[in-house]
Amino acid sequence: IKRLGIISALHEEQQGLIQAMDGAATVMHGMRDYTAGRLWGIDAVCVLSRIGKVAASMTATMLVEKFGVTHILFTGVAGSGDAGVQVGDIVIAESLVQHDMDASPLFPRYEVPLTGLSRFQSDAALSRQLGWAADSFVDVDFLTAIGGQERRDFRLGQPKVHRGLIASGDQFISSRAHIDSLNVSHPGLLAVEMEGAAVAQVCFELGIPFAVIRTISDNANEDAAIDFLRFVKSVAARYAFHIVRRFCQQ
Ligand code: ADE
Repeated sequence: IKRLGIISALHEEQQGLIQAMDGAATVMHGMRDYTAGRLWGIDAVCVLSRIGKVAASMTATMLVEKFGVTHILFTGVAGSGDAGVQVGDIVIAESLVQHDMDASPLFPRYEVPLTGLSRFQSDAALSRQLGWAADSFVDVDFLTAIGGQERRDFRLGQPKVHRGLIASGDQFISSRAHIDSLNVSHPGLLAVEMEGAAVAQVCFELGIPFAVIRTISDNANEDAAIDFLRFVKSVAARYAFHIVRRFCQQ
C-alpha cells in the first residue's frame, strides 16, 4: 500500500486514529479536514466524509485526485440487515449495492446506469487483510478494549466477523418492515449504511482498490436511532481504532 485513505462518516469513529498519527498535518478542502501522516508505519490520509452517498463520493474522489491515495478503507457503523448479525458484530463487505437506486424501466432496478453493475466488489486482498485485523481485534483486543460494564450495557458477546453484502442508501433505516423488505430484495444482505456503495462506485470508476468494514450499532428497527447514538457515543471508536491498528501492523 503506497498511500492509504481512511474514511469514516462520524467524528467518534476517527478521533483515535488522528491522535495516533505521526507527523499529522491537516489540510481543509471542500468543508472537510484531510489529515495526512504515518499510521503504524503506513502513509495514510484520514478524513470524515459526513453522512450519505454524495458526501462519501465527494470525499473518496478528493482522496484520490487531490491527496494521491492508492487504496481506500471505509470504517464505521451500520444497521443489521439480517437476524444472524447482532449489535457488536463486524461486517466486511464482499460486495455493495445502492438500495435506493432505481432507474427502471430504463435499467434494471438497483443497476447503476451505464456501469452494467448493481453490486460492486470490494478488493479481495484488502478485505482479507481487514478480516485478519478484525479477527485479531475479536481474539486479542476485545475484552480489554471494551469494558465489562459496556459489554453488559450493549449485551455484547464475543463478536462474530461476517463477510458478504452491504447495502447503502440515503436513508437511515428505522423500521422493522423496511429492513425486512431490504433483506428480501437483496439476498445475502448483512448490513445497511449510507456510504459504502457510493465509495465502491467511485473506486470502481477510478480503478482504486477499496474495502469497507462496519461494526453493527443497531438493528435498523424502531429502536435504531437510540441504539445507534448510544453505540457511537461509547464503543464505536474503540472498534475502529483497534481494527485499523491491527490492519496497519500486519
Ligand atoms: N448506520 C448505522 N445504523 C444505520 C441504519 N439503521 N440505517 C442506515 N445507516 C446506518
